[in-house]
Amino acid sequence: MTMNKKQHIVVFTGAGMSAPSGLATFRDPDGIWSRYNVEEVATPQAWAADPNKVLEFYNIRRTQLADVEPNEGHRAIAALEEKYQVTVITQNVDNLHERGGSSSVLHLHGELTKVRSTADPALVYDIGTGLLNPGDLCEKGSQLRPHVVWFGEQVFHTEEACEAIAGCDILIVAGTSLQVYPAAGMILYASPTAERYLIDPGSPEAPENFQHLNGSVDILLPQLARTLLDR
Ligand code: APR
Repeated sequence: MTMNKKQHIVVFTGAGMSAPSGLATFRDPDGIWSRYNVEEVATPQAWAADPNKVLEFYNIRRTQLADVEPNEGHRAIAALEEKYQVTVITQNVDNLHERGGSSSVLHLHGELTKVRSTADPALVYDIGTGLLNPGDLCEKGSQLRPHVVWFGEQVFHTEEACEAIAGCDILIVAGTSLQVYPAAGMILYASPTAERYLIDPGSPEAPENFQHLNGSVDILLPQLARTLLDR
């Protein structure tokens, strides 16, 4: 009996993935960037100028994380692992993909539940949905910072993410406006033979060869997963 190799699905997600769970996106009308100035809370300059304001911004978002659950979209992605190799590549810093059951998640922009040393970036600690305050120090005595990628900083897992997209059989892009690079540019690495789906109620600028499923992730991902699992 020949073991047939599992097909590989990459699911590339953004803030819209967590919208049905109750977490705000960034660029929708009521989005985070309509309430906060990104220059004051999500750049190295902001951290240098007013670290307390940056710490508070992430404390508010981390506290919100304690009150929300994965949605049917997260669970549908995890269900695909029954029959496919599934790699989740997310711009989101929440842990809803993991809590929804996904076993392979690459966080391009870091993780809200983790903090790291400002003296040694290799020192990363998991604080769950706890608070990070001024004076919270790493084992080397330096202030801890959110383990989140700020604008102007290096994105994580770039090579691994581009390799996964280049090698996948099916690429599903869900809940992202595709406006932030280099993340948004990674979807161009998909091979011409890969099946491509874009799930969004809006119409983000996506390359023309994506099948646009116009609606919410918590409705459309379960439907798409059903179709892919019934093949
Ligand atoms: N289902 C599917 N898509 C949705 C839903 C939903 N229920 N609700 C909103 N969306 C879509 C919006 O139409 C939009 O296209 O999700 C997208 C959200 O876009 P952004 O708010 O720009 O979020 P994202 O693309 O993840 O931003 C990328 O920008 O600020 C930085 O680091 C931050 O990772 C973030 C990056």
